[in-house]
Amino acid sequence: MGIQRDAQDGVYFYDYNLQESDQQQEILQGLAQRPKRISAKYFYDQNGSQLFEDITQLDEYYPTRTEVQLLKDYRQNIIDKAGEHSVLIEYGSGASTKIRLLLDALKPKAYVPLDISKDFLFDSAIELRQQFPWLEIHATCLDYRQPATLPRGISPNAKKVAFFPGSSLGNFAPQEALSFLKGVRATVGDKGAMLIGVDLVKPIPTLEAAYNDAKGVTAQFNLNVLRHLNQLGNGNFNLDHFVHHAFFNPEQSRIEMHLISKYDQVVSLFGQRLSFKQDEAVVTEYSYKFKPDTFAQFVRQAGFESEHCWTDENNHFALFWLQAI
Ligand code: AVJ
Repeated sequence: MGIQRDAQDGVYFYDYNLQESDQQQEILQGLAQRPKRISAKYFYDQNGSQLFEDITQLDEYYPTRTEVQLLKDYRQNIIDKAGEHSVLIEYGSGASTKIRLLLDALKPKAYVPLDISKDFLFDSAIELRQQFPWLEIHATCLDYRQPATLPRGISPNAKKVAFFPGSSLGNFAPQEALSFLKGVRATVGDKGAMLIGVDLVKPIPTLEAAYNDAKGVTAQFNLNVLRHLNQLGNGNFNLDHFVHHAFFNPEQSRIEMHLISKYDQVVSLFGQRLSFKQDEAVVTEYSYKFKPDTFAQFVRQAGFESEHCWTDENNHFALFWLQAI
């Protein structure tokens, strides 16, 4: 069910987020699994979205910096592929920082930022409109794993380009990644395309440092998910009773972020009692790392052809242009 909020001078708002009861069920189901799991999307309350922006500024966190440089270096190539006046749909738009590098030259017919963090999304949309007063913005709050229905008012015949930066695809397990890409393929249609940022496999120390920064911002970001759950489910997680743990799992080619319980403890959430054993791990995030060739193979199964792959000189990160086939 979508609630269209007031349009505000060229900015339209839509809220398709989960009902609270569904959210509760999803959270408790994750915590009933072994190992316990909290979906990575719960990182992104207002505080978590800000902590993530802080992460992107860290020396150790190479992905954002590298991807932004790729967007700058290959801006013209990207614009040539996209063409002007497309409808630009961004999955997980956050503060809409990266897209600003392309907007002036792309002149999209409309920009549709999708994000789970409602206030952050809506504030960012208003700020973006101030910088780009000609841009029509349809800010849509949802969990982008759900199928995205494009807002009415978006012309069905316009070329659609999906933008999915930041290697957020890496948060999905391979099967989920595939069904997500199929969903994007359905949304952009037969003439559509996707510009996607993908973090690449590289030596383990570089990977692990990016998730264990010296300032401890990633640890704060990880622990903040507990504060968010407390707020959603009237819970009493004590953030001092868990520790951040992040490491590379080479068999699965993924960074794993865990929260480790320091003690045997019982926490209440949504009126339920949850027990944690000392040293028990709660999985909060997987971040898969890819090899360019296997990624290009992978997207074919979703109906995309990898037309181009731009990488930096260290082969740390890649931007792929995927064309619908
Ligand atoms: C935005 C999901 C790509 O996995 O690197 C950063 C999130 N987690 N530090 C990533 C994140 C810990 C990020 N993604």
